Amino acid sequence: MAHDGYRIVFLGPPGAGKGTQASLLAKKYGIKKISTGDILREAVRNGTELGRKAKRYMDAGELVPDGIIIGLIEEQIAGHESFILDGFPRTLVQAKALDELLNKQGKPLTHVIFVSVPDEEIVRRLTARRVCPKCGAVYNLVYNPPKSDEICDVCGTPLIQRSDDREDVIRNRLRVFKESTAPLVDYYRKRGIYHEVNGVGSVEEVLKRIEEALSG
Ligand code: AP5
Repeated sequence: MAHDGYRIVFLGPPGAGKGTQASLLAKKYGIKKISTGDILREAVRNGTELGRKAKRYMDAGELVPDGIIIGLIEEQIAGHESFILDGFPRTLVQAKALDELLNKQGKPLTHVIFVSVPDEEIVRRLTARRVCPKCGAVYNLVYNPPKSDEICDVCGTPLIQRSDDREDVIRNRLRVFKESTAPLVDYYRKRGIYHEVNGVGSVEEVLKRIEEALSG
């Protein structure tokens, strides 16, 4: 299958490396990456109505209501033959709405990649994550530190910690994931498009596993 026929969902717990891998793959394959988390954070930064509605849920590590998210995804997907969805769907309601939307266009999902990482590794990764508020680059103080102390390598802006990367909020995000998002595994497994990939290892190793799953 040519890369331009790929319609991929990246599923997995917070901090599994979905965003890191989705960005690499989107660049490599030349297809659009749609991250609901990134879109919501930008809306919060810009103080839009969407941002005002979403902020309190995000700061608490809770999910933003389905109605808000589904409308947003419809706009993002419109007109795109191929894409990687990072952080969507997260509930069965979202998954069913996505299927309905894609089936109407006769272009169903081609792959669902679940990136699996144990809880304690997730807490280690997320408490050490730093992000650039200007260009969006993502670092890790342990695994992928910036060259100069907490300054973005790409644009020189001081890095920040996401407001939901505090340990108590991370633990709540993990709980929400298990309760609301983990049931999607069964939903997609039945369809034969589901692949589980071990997310522990270097970024390059995990990317290689994902590409193997996509071509298998
Ligand atoms: P979102 O931004 O989607 O957060 P998340 O799913 O919790 O995922 P993260 O961005 O925290 O982690 P990631 O898996 O992308 O990992 P990353 O690559 O950054 O959502 C945030 C909030 O928005 C939600 O809580 C909710 O409120 C709302 N929201 C978003 N979508 C929604 C939806 N569909 N419905 C309802 N609400 C929604 O990596 C993490 C760290 O690890 C980084 O520091 C990275 O450098 C490092 N790292 C990556 N790979 C490796 C590796 N192989 N080894 C070591 N370190 C690594």
